[in-house]
Amino acid sequence: MSEALFKSFAIVGAGPHIGIPIVKVSISPILVIARPTSTNTSALPADDPNLKVVRADYTSASEVSAILRENKVDVLISTVTLVFGGVLVQNILADAAKEAGVKLFVPSEFGTAPPASGLSHEKYDFAVYTKSIGLPTLHVYNGLFNEFVPWLTALTETGKLHLVGKGEMPGSFTAIPDVAGYLAHILTTQPPSRLLDVEVRIEGQRATLLEIIALYKGSVPVVHCDAVPTEGVVAVEVRTLLQQRFEIGGASCGWNPETGSDDAELARKDNLLWEGHRWLTVGEVLGL
Ligand SMILES: NC(=O)c1ccc[n+]([C@@H]2O[C@H](COP(=O)([O-])OP(=O)(O)OC[C@H]3O[C@@H](n4cnc5c(N)ncnc54)[C@H](OP(=O)(O)O)[C@@H]3O)[C@@H](O)[C@H]2O)c1
Repeated sequence: MSEALFKSFAIVGAGPHIGIPIVKVSISPILVIARPTSTNTSALPADDPNLKVVRADYTSASEVSAILRENKVDVLISTVTLVFGGVLVQNILADAAKEAGVKLFVPSEFGTAPPASGLSHEKYDFAVYTKSIGLPTLHVYNGLFNEFVPWLTALTETGKLHLVGKGEMPGSFTAIPDVAGYLAHILTTQPPSRLLDVEVRIEGQRATLLEIIALYKGSVPVVHCDAVPTEGVVAVEVRTLLQQRFEIGGASCGWNPETGSDDAELARKDNLLWEGHRWLTVGEVLGL
């Protein structure tokens, strides 16, 4: 295997949460492949000579493949949505990548190791699929984005922190700029042998939900509940299931869904690939 560093990068599903931050951290040159209907492209930096935007139908392997081949893409990053069904079209994107000779596919993960059934099992199924077609992958596990605490607890919509369960089990939290910066750093500094068919586990901060709630110092009401409230809140089931995952330790990057066990050292084992980096805390990101 050649150990020459990867040179050419593309991204599919560049949305506001993690995709666009990855584009902005200057992995360059980078090609953004957006769907014909995407309006997210308007949030991309204008006049960046290292950024090119093309449009393609994600459900057409031949269309995506032709673009990847034409642009000699080494690494295809996917940040397609899980909640709205994007992960399900990744098989087509994988077929396109394989056909075009892409060397590494970074699937839309950015959480914790997915289980074979239940919430985010589509990510597990995709890992099985890429293995079956022999497409090398790099899975990034970072826990919950620090920025998503108000979303997880429905604080954003209700003005109250909703805690499902006791909130006593530690989970992993990593800020979006740290996840994006980390991915850019390792893709541009690590040799292919360190990245191919690898799971990287990073953790900016390890904390329980009770510890995170304590950061608010009583400034907002806390509601103990069995489920995130439905009124005026979208994707409540996902939020409730995620908090239930916290309850069993499954929100830690050291979580092993097969054994049901957590390993605090494993949770941050790949932080060291970004030597000297200072990781943002939840308090810093949320201004608490
Ligand atoms: N750890 C965390 O706290 C956390 C939080 C949020 C998300 N995540 C993870 O990050 C990844 C990206 O999620 P996100 O929230 O950033 O996604 P998002 O912003 O909702 O969507 C990302 C992109 O998905 C594409 N897309 C939307 N619907 C699609 C469909 N039906 N088929 C194919 N593509 C579709 C769109 O691409 P176009 O622009 O081309 O239309 C969109 O820009 C997911 O794996 C998610 O689980 C993690």
